[in-house]
Amino acid sequence: MILVTGGAGYIGSHAVLELLLAGNEVLVLDNLCNSSKIALDRVEALTGRKAQFVKGDVRNRSLLNALFASYPVTAVLHFAGLKAVGESVREPLRYYETNVSGSIALCQAMAEAGIFKLVFSSSATVYGDSPKMPITENCPTGLPTNPYGQSKLMAENVLKGLAESDPRWSIALLRYFNPIGAHESGLIGEDPNGTPNNLLPYMLQVAVGRRKQLSIYGADYPTPDGTGVRDYIHVVDLAKGHLKALERLNLVHGVSTWNLGTGRGYSVRQMVTAFEEVIGRRLPHVFKARRPGDIAQCWSDPTKAREELGWQAEKDLLTMLTDAWRWQSRNPQGYAVEQTATGKAEANPETALAS
Ligand code: NAD
Ligand code: UD1
Repeated sequence: MILVTGGAGYIGSHAVLELLLAGNEVLVLDNLCNSSKIALDRVEALTGRKAQFVKGDVRNRSLLNALFASYPVTAVLHFAGLKAVGESVREPLRYYETNVSGSIALCQAMAEAGIFKLVFSSSATVYGDSPKMPITENCPTGLPTNPYGQSKLMAENVLKGLAESDPRWSIALLRYFNPIGAHESGLIGEDPNGTPNNLLPYMLQVAVGRRKQLSIYGADYPTPDGTGVRDYIHVVDLAKGHLKALERLNLVHGVSTWNLGTGRGYSVRQMVTAFEEVIGRRLPHVFKARRPGDIAQCWSDPTKAREELGWQAEKDLLTMLTDAWRWQSRNPQGYAVEQTATGKAEANPETALAS
């Protein structure tokens, strides 16, 4: 059985789906602070299989001990964490506590239970403003400019030290580039709380009429069209990378680091143009000053993952944007619970499930 912390979240729910489809037993631990249980109900509807779900906090050592005593867990995918950069600047301790202390609590409980296989959700943010493109795993980690990025780098370092201290550990540090898109069913996808920080969720909310216009932050970067360039990767490709990493951990010990990206960068202007083609109309947008802390460009060299995991991203930008739009247009309010005309509170899967 695989424990998936944060398994109700955006990437976690897609990983749970792939794990179930591959025949794994799955236990999800999530405190639902940034997600909805509805995502897992829909995963069940899609796979015909059910993940066990426990609502709880990854920092809760006694809960973790109880889970490991009750379920035959052999490996952990650790997604649970906080990820909003701006919020991390305002509430650094909450970020360090969840992302660093949460990872430490998990590892302590795993070691006590004799479980030594861990896949950790890291981020390309640990490379900072890399002077070299594309970014390989050998590129030095940089100095993340915010507590979120720092917390990911700190957690990576904690895990490296742990694996050096005890050869029983097999740990994968997966450095995600920019996950976007949604499962092709349109039933599960990204549902950010409040105002989206990231580009695609913002564009989607403009397109469904929840926001007036997109602000493009910076048209004066040293990139071909002046806007920021990123390596966007389909969340389903990303989820599949986790299964490949899990397989690989059966064969290797210590810490292994893999970039999960496509190896190709797109600018914000290119993203807007491609998305306009998908929705068949113009997306209202204005140009603004650069966003503090942003880098000009960032894309991966995914060769190591291809060679060592036998994994590579398969879905192109059009598929990413089409799948994201299917999710958002069928679920304009995400997983939000709505009051229906009868006054009965219910989730809004009907449109999504019916189509
Ligand atoms: P998400 O917020 O959708 O998922 C995180 C999940 O963890 C949520 O379901 C949340 O409720 C849960 N959670 C948070 N704190 C918890 C706690 N203390 N105990 C138990 N559950 C808790 O985010 P996501 O986009 O799915 O990201 C998953 C992981 O990948 C995170 O660690 C994130 O930092 C990392 N990551 C995400 C991106 C991205 O762009 N989405 C990029 C790089 C890395
Ligand atoms: C951001 C985070 C990074 C995190 C990553 C994935 C910052 C500074 N960095 O990265 O730490 O790992 O998300 O969660 O927040 N853009 C706009 N308008 C918008 C939003 C974004 O023009 O409303 C631009 C940005 O300037 C950037 C590109 O779109 O050029 C992508 O932005 P975003 O989706 O936020 O991802 P990152 O900046 O790569």
